[in-house]
Amino acid sequence: MNDAIRQVTHAQNIRYDKEAEALYIIDQSLLPNEERELRLETLEEMVEAIQKLRVRGAPAIGICAAYCLYVLARAIPEEDPAAFQKRLREDSARLNASRPTAVNLAWALREMEATAEAHRGDSRPVLLEALYQKAAAIHQDDIAKCAAISEYGLSLLKEGDGVLTHCNAGPLATSRYGTAQGPFFLAAERGMHIRVFADETRPLLQGARLTSYELHRAGVDVTLICDNMASMVMKNGWVQACFVGCDRVAANGDTANKIGTSGVAILAKHYGIPVYVLGPTSTIDLQCPDGAHIPIELRDPEEIKTLWYEKPMALPGVKCYNPSFDVTDHELISGIVTEKGICRPPYTESLANLFK
Ligand code: MRU
Repeated sequence: MNDAIRQVTHAQNIRYDKEAEALYIIDQSLLPNEERELRLETLEEMVEAIQKLRVRGAPAIGICAAYCLYVLARAIPEEDPAAFQKRLREDSARLNASRPTAVNLAWALREMEATAEAHRGDSRPVLLEALYQKAAAIHQDDIAKCAAISEYGLSLLKEGDGVLTHCNAGPLATSRYGTAQGPFFLAAERGMHIRVFADETRPLLQGARLTSYELHRAGVDVTLICDNMASMVMKNGWVQACFVGCDRVAANGDTANKIGTSGVAILAKHYGIPVYVLGPTSTIDLQCPDGAHIPIELRDPEEIKTLWYEKPMALPGVKCYNPSFDVTDHELISGIVTEKGICRPPYTESLANLFK
């Protein structure tokens, strides 16, 4: 593998230093201009980091939250096992409430709580070690899942294809290769030429700041476009498929992903271009029947009006609507690519089969 690709795909966006017992993340809010690690020690710092998207992307949020709960567990003073478990569940609930849409957060925290419960009768060191091992396993597991998803995703592409992607679902958002952007790194590793069109992804610019940053550094052919240019590049015949990530996939295949994804899918349908959703099974929520039941995070209007500008781009009194995600109807999705294979419609059946 060439060094540039390795550097990007193996970036340690979340790093637990066991010797120093310290949790670090790459602060994604500073990219692409500054690559800086941030240590997370307190519950307040952890919640802030998740809410401010210093750590972001559904799988990465889940992995980070698992380590966070371990760090918090180490600091719980209560000796009594019942009091310890209660405090751990409270900390877990606070972490879980930090962002509502990405289901990986709740999933990872549930796994950690179940581990703590299973070791309720053990000594504190044994219980803590079990929590650390669980967080590390969630992390390792995601590496393997991303590798498999990338392989399945790449099987949908051929030499010279153009692919449009939205938001960031690469190494920073996951571990190693990523999901929706994983196939592009694999293709580059194998000398295959794929042309990627990355939507800038208003208002937080994950496509510009993170996706084009990762792909360009890895030597992938990436062209950054504003979100409202997707129709033009599709019409020009430059796009043979759309690859997007996911924050929660409902039982019927309706998929929440970064705001703007459903618009991409509607455009793609118009131009006859397939749309693939790529994500680990930990993002599939069979308890959620359809997209109408997915909670959608609403964010600060200032992200639209002032965040990236020297001067405000709208009057202070102007109302803003800033949903962080939208739901793409399952009918617009050609396939859902998981680590276990590619699900095709009807999704109610194919997604349920994954868990049998
Ligand atoms: O608000 P963000 O940046 O956390 O949103 C991220 C996305 O929507 C990603 O596409 C999704 O989490 C998949 S990441 C593999």
